[in-house]
Amino acid sequence: MAIEQTLVLVKPDGLKKSLTGNILSRLSEARLEIAGTKMVRVSRQLAEEHYEALKGKPFFEELISYIMGDFHQRRKVMALVYHGEDTITKMRRICGATNPEEAESQTIRGAYGRITTSGIYENVVHSSANAEEAEREIKLWFAPDEVVYQIFPVKVVEMNIKKLVWS
Ligand code: TYD
Repeated sequence: MAIEQTLVLVKPDGLKKSLTGNILSRLSEARLEIAGTKMVRVSRQLAEEHYEALKGKPFFEELISYIMGDFHQRRKVMALVYHGEDTITKMRRICGATNPEEAESQTIRGAYGRITTSGIYENVVHSSANAEEAEREIKLWFAPDEVVYQIFPVKVVEMNIKKLVWS
């Protein structure tokens, strides 16, 4: 079995429903390591890049609003990188099927997800679909120094930038 990493998001409905503890407990059953975590204010650009493969779907605009927190008065998500053996499959299994009504009841989405009256899947968590997507998503959400292992090759670049620091 391969050592892999995956991106998990606790979506705004998960945060609003105070499910973070429950979700992390469920995910910990896979005995994987958390290699990085942070709270993220999701910009439209980040949301659209994350879901770029779904551009053109009838639910795309609502999906972007959902992940940005428009429906839950929570302009943030919790992003995590998990690392370990067969991580992608293990995490997808614990999260459950995309459609919360089809997800098995012992999965996170089966237990806590819902379909809204307007048809949006509020399925509480995201977990990368495959290794290629996981790499793309982790690189989108995390900088190399926000992950405790060097999971992908890095390079040093010199930049002259303005940066926010504590005053
Ligand atoms: P997708 O990448 O197909 O599934 P997953 O999150 O399981 O990898 O879809 C991304 C999100 O889009 C999904 O978590 C919920 C939302 N979605 C809908 O709201 N309606 C739909 O019919 C589908 C397929 C997805």
